[in-house]
Amino acid sequence: MKVLGIESSCDETGVALVEVDGANTPPRLKAQALHSQVRMHEAYGGVVPELASRDHIRRIVPLVRQVLAESATSAGGLDLIAYTRGPGLAGALLVGAAFAAALAASLGKPTLGVHHLEGHLLSPFLADDPPRFPFVALLVSGGHTQVMRVEGVGRYQLLGETIDDAAGEAFDKTAKLLGLGYPGGPALARLADFGDAEAFKLPRPLMADRQSLDFSFAGLKTAVWTQLRKLESANVCEQDKANLAASTQAAIVEVLVGKALRALDATGLERLVVAGGVGANAELRRQLNDACARRGVRVHYPALDLCTDNGAMIALAAAMRVQRDGLPAVNDAAFDVRPRWPLAELDAAAA
Ligand code: KG4
Ligand code: ZN
Repeated sequence: MKVLGIESSCDETGVALVEVDGANTPPRLKAQALHSQVRMHEAYGGVVPELASRDHIRRIVPLVRQVLAESATSAGGLDLIAYTRGPGLAGALLVGAAFAAALAASLGKPTLGVHHLEGHLLSPFLADDPPRFPFVALLVSGGHTQVMRVEGVGRYQLLGETIDDAAGEAFDKTAKLLGLGYPGGPALARLADFGDAEAFKLPRPLMADRQSLDFSFAGLKTAVWTQLRKLESANVCEQDKANLAASTQAAIVEVLVGKALRALDATGLERLVVAGGVGANAELRRQLNDACARRGVRVHYPALDLCTDNGAMIALAAAMRVQRDGLPAVNDAAFDVRPRWPLAELDAAAA
């Protein structure tokens, strides 16, 4: 069975084809294509929603053609058209959803609206050595920071989440203060390599409360801003900036690792899955690997190019849902999007 996945929730247009045989064989990625809008939004220091929607419209058809060609598949050979239904930017989501509905209607095939975070969460299942359920998931993206107990597809128990900024947002906002442009995460991580992580004492919010699995990152950018103001009166140099980058990264990573370990303790589970854009951070991976190796816990990550938004994770999540529930019925070209969509509500009707 062939599943086409379309991701358009934010600033990447992603398309991929995943093939799945039966209920027990892992889905396989046959082809994927991605267009990142980062260059387009750079000048504005962040994503401009209307520009994002218009660009998705321009990119989606060529990307679908490319994926079909690379996987030697005709449109008629597709069994399911999956798209990101939410959460995300309403206009951007509507482009992917409307395209998926139109393509499916023209082929007489069903559609499936996928939860973007479920896509991130399941993305390590495309790795050569996929995880097994149950596991603790640390989901760290630009919009979300959550720790979950995952029992199976659609069986997600939220253990903790951010009460303000997401981890990716903390990277991005601090990077902006340091003049590093957008998106800031990778740029801040690169600069941090040249800095001293202990140069500045930055807060580790909600770490003192030994029970809490929630996160809070909003205070971090204020702390960095305060340090910068102090330094600027004495002329901030490149080394100070690198030290601030390293100290910021250290604070974020320490909190993420600490909470992930706490969740493993609280659940007694011995597997950890890390997903979302911040999961590409090398320092986070290094510290999680060390801490988990000491405890005999297995850590699974998606391939680096599947950490950030992509179509493969959407096709994969749809394929795993089909393995669980079978193919959905052909719908009547109706579609909707859910810009705000808590993961906990995903299978609420069935729970
Ligand atoms: O999952 P994602 O692509 O989009 C959302 O669903 O939000 O995550 C994007 C976030 C951005 O905040 C970006 O700065 C961050 O992931 N990010 C990183 C790295 N690569 C991407 N943060 C830290 N280090 C990285 N290497
Ligand atoms: Zn994402």
